[in-house]
Amino acid sequence: MLQKRSYYSFLFAGSLVTLLIFVKCQTNNHQLTALESVSSPSDNPISAEKISFGKKLFFDKRLSRDQSISCATCHVPEYAFTDRKKVSEGVNGGKTERNSPSLLNAGFLKTMMYDAHLTSLEMQAIVPIQEHVEMDMKMKELVQRLRLVEEYQKEAKRIFNREVDAFVITRSLAAFERSLLSQNSRFDSYYYKKNKKALTKDEIAGWKIFSEELYCTKCHPAPAFTNYVAENNGLYLDYGQDKGRFRIFNDSMDIGKFKVPSLRNIELTSPFMHDGSLASLDAIFSHYENGGAKHPLQNKIIQPFVLTKKQKEQLKLFLFSLTDTTYMKDFR
Ligand code: HEC
Ligand code: HEC
Repeated sequence: MLQKRSYYSFLFAGSLVTLLIFVKCQTNNHQLTALESVSSPSDNPISAEKISFGKKLFFDKRLSRDQSISCATCHVPEYAFTDRKKVSEGVNGGKTERNSPSLLNAGFLKTMMYDAHLTSLEMQAIVPIQEHVEMDMKMKELVQRLRLVEEYQKEAKRIFNREVDAFVITRSLAAFERSLLSQNSRFDSYYYKKNKKALTKDEIAGWKIFSEELYCTKCHPAPAFTNYVAENNGLYLDYGQDKGRFRIFNDSMDIGKFKVPSLRNIELTSPFMHDGSLASLDAIFSHYENGGAKHPLQNKIIQPFVLTKKQKEQLKLFLFSLTDTTYMKDFR
């Protein structure tokens, strides 16, 4: 019940704002899908103009030092806003430490990054811009550069009544990210819209395995298929350099904790895990089947189990029923 209720608020908020945005879009001819605004901070109300400006910034390579990288280089629309690389490549061949996460439904996140420590999309946007192995720009220089773009200055004046600055850049990017929704999968049709024919028998069997026979929904519950918190899923016995959330707060209980990723659109986003170390769902199933690597701080929920080949296939088919590419209509 609880799961359903939170899903309905997920949809309801989406529909409300869609309606508002739809009315606005009629005037500027910009097509938008559903979006929600529950988590829009009070200093950044969402609007169709802001989303559209944020979208331009998101795809603009001028945001990086040598103008070779945009946000979309590492968050590619077709791949559910990941880049399908083990780790990402930024300016000058720099490599990130981590695998690029999907940005679909990012508006629902309670915290950002694998360390689950940043509390707003506005704040997050500054990080890749300034990070040396990503865009390597100083915000001050970026503002100077973008002020020379007449169109951007005009938009900033129109939407924010100020010149392009860090406020305008981060607010617009965040508004755009809040418009990235994916909640129309076949699973949604089956589970929430009660269309019993939306899933095949095998997919339904896979959902039962995932939610009833195994423990997966303890950390990956519907509707978002994440509980939004950082957990240790026992990926390694020794986490080596990247100990996850520990590196932010230095709390030894945080060793090996990474924010639980949503499993929506997992069909489009391999390789998996914070470091892109697992290339396939089969590798992931083996990980959990073995009961994890038995790190001392591994969440106790994770215990060994055995699945037949057929059950694994069903589990995979269920996970693929979470794919929803309707968002792509705004990116073709
Ligand atoms: C060079 C590749 C690269 C570029 C460019 C890049 N990102 Fe990312 N992004 C990543 C990686 C890798 C992470 C994961 C970082 C972590 O968790 O430590 C990430 C994380 C994020 C997150 C957090 C998602 C979550 O689930 O917690 C958001 C939001 C985001 N990026 C938005 C952006 C925006 C907006 C831009 C452009 C201003 C951008 N990214 C540019 C690679 C990139
Ligand atoms: C204790 C919490 C927890 C439980 C229970 C759990 N997971 Fe996870 N899962 C995580 C965390 C944390 C990650 C990310 C770890 C990392 O990045 O190193 C993850 C990652 C994944 C990923 C990769 C997602 C991606 O985009 O990289 C898949 C797929 C997955 N889990 C499936 C499952 C399945 C199937 C089950 C049930 C057998 C399950 N999980 C049970 C916490 C959990």
